Amino acid sequence: MTMIKKITWKSFLPGCYKAQTTPLEPKKRDTKHSSFHRLSLSDLSNPGSPLSISANDLSNSLVGSNLHIFTLTELKTITQNFSSSNFIGEGGFGPVHKGFIDDKMRPGLKAQPVAVKLLDLDGFQGHREWLAEVIFLGQLRHPHLVKLIGYCCEDENRLLVYEYMPRGSLENHLFRKYGAALPWAARMKIALGAAKGLTFLHETEKPVIYRDFKTSNILLDADHTAKLSDFGLAKDGPEGDETHVSTRVMGTHGYAAPEYVMTGHLTSMSDVYSFGVVLLELLTGRRSMDKNRPNREQNLVEWARHQLNDSRKLGRIMDPRLEGQYSTKAAQKAAALAYQCLSHHPKSRPTMSTVVKTLEPLQNFDDIPIGPFVYMVPVEPEKTEPKKEKEQNPQRQRQGHRHRIRSPRSRTVYTETNLRNNLRSSLNPQKEKENQEKEGKI
Ligand SMILES: Nc1ncnc2c1ncn2[C@@H]1O[C@H](COP(=O)(O)OP(=O)(O)O)[C@@H](O)[C@H]1O
Ligand SMILES: [Mg+2]
Repeated sequence: MTMIKKITWKSFLPGCYKAQTTPLEPKKRDTKHSSFHRLSLSDLSNPGSPLSISANDLSNSLVGSNLHIFTLTELKTITQNFSSSNFIGEGGFGPVHKGFIDDKMRPGLKAQPVAVKLLDLDGFQGHREWLAEVIFLGQLRHPHLVKLIGYCCEDENRLLVYEYMPRGSLENHLFRKYGAALPWAARMKIALGAAKGLTFLHETEKPVIYRDFKTSNILLDADHTAKLSDFGLAKDGPEGDETHVSTRVMGTHGYAAPEYVMTGHLTSMSDVYSFGVVLLELLTGRRSMDKNRPNREQNLVEWARHQLNDSRKLGRIMDPRLEGQYSTKAAQKAAALAYQCLSHHPKSRPTMSTVVKTLEPLQNFDDIPIGPFVYMVPVEPEKTEPKKEKEQNPQRQRQGHRHRIRSPRSRTVYTETNLRNNLRSSLNPQKEKENQEKEGKI
């Protein structure tokens, strides 16, 4: 892991002014320093600390991270002006386009495909989340975290440049309507890889809580190596004697741990719960929340929880698209693990390193039935059609307002109130119906 010298945010100047026209060289890590401390995002909460910082100050503070600073013009060039044909995905904060860096662009930067994420910057949160990604991913390096290559902070523009992940997100693979189902072995490999990524975050010298673990934030390499991306909501873990971090409740409905939604108390066990939800999605092939299903099946955890520990019932909830091509023994163990991760009591959940230890032996089981031969076409990630206005120049996109309520399905990040209301109704649907009737909502 790369760690940087501790600095305070008080030294930063407000505003990202016009970036240098001459691209900056990445700063090389001073390997002679015996003790580096990771720059922490929690420094931002110091009273009076500005959230906006200059491109220069940011680059100085991230000495050692090897991040490249790009100009907007360069990023427009490599993405063909953010053309719709290069569009590869979108979360709540802006579109992601594929680009290609050639070896002439910068000394020390090899020719490679990249993913360029453009943040909508109308809201305060957009900048904060952009900064969180730069601070965390710029300093943390691990085989199961996506590599941040650089960023652009020019005028109001905020962009991030990542290594390109050829298979795109787990969400696209697991839930795509067409093409072969994601095979069992790949599912177990992805679960293990993502678990290793979370373990690293929880056990690093200054632990990090990821806070937004879900299928759209897990990216896949050509060989199904899973890497966590999107550190926009990541938080530094509790320090000293603290047992939790108190935060505004942010996350995605269907993945956020119930105690976190109710109290705002965030611990690494909140990530373990979200991991349990993703593991359940891998087993069942169902989305954590699916409004298109019958009422009692819409919330995956509520629907599946009681069948996870019963080996006879497990077969009923396994993904039918697997067509039985999975190891029953491994599925039972994985289901039991998901059950533990989804415990209502955070202390009863396993740590992520225990999750890794449990998943490791599930990688190779010989009780997978021999099925029909299925040829898996090596795929480019499915291209989702961008919204019309997103095809245009990024300048135009910032004219709208940024909302915490994101686009539908699992990409939705809910505000505190939304998450709580949704949790209440899933825990007690009858009571909620009565309340809503009283309030004249239905
Ligand atoms: N490095 C990458 N390689 C390939 N696809 C990516 C990459 N980064 C993001 N994507 C695609 O874009 C989507 C949104 O990216 P994400 O970082 O989660 O954005 P947001 O912060 O808006 O949620 C992902 O779900 C994935 O489909
Ligand atoms: Mg995302």
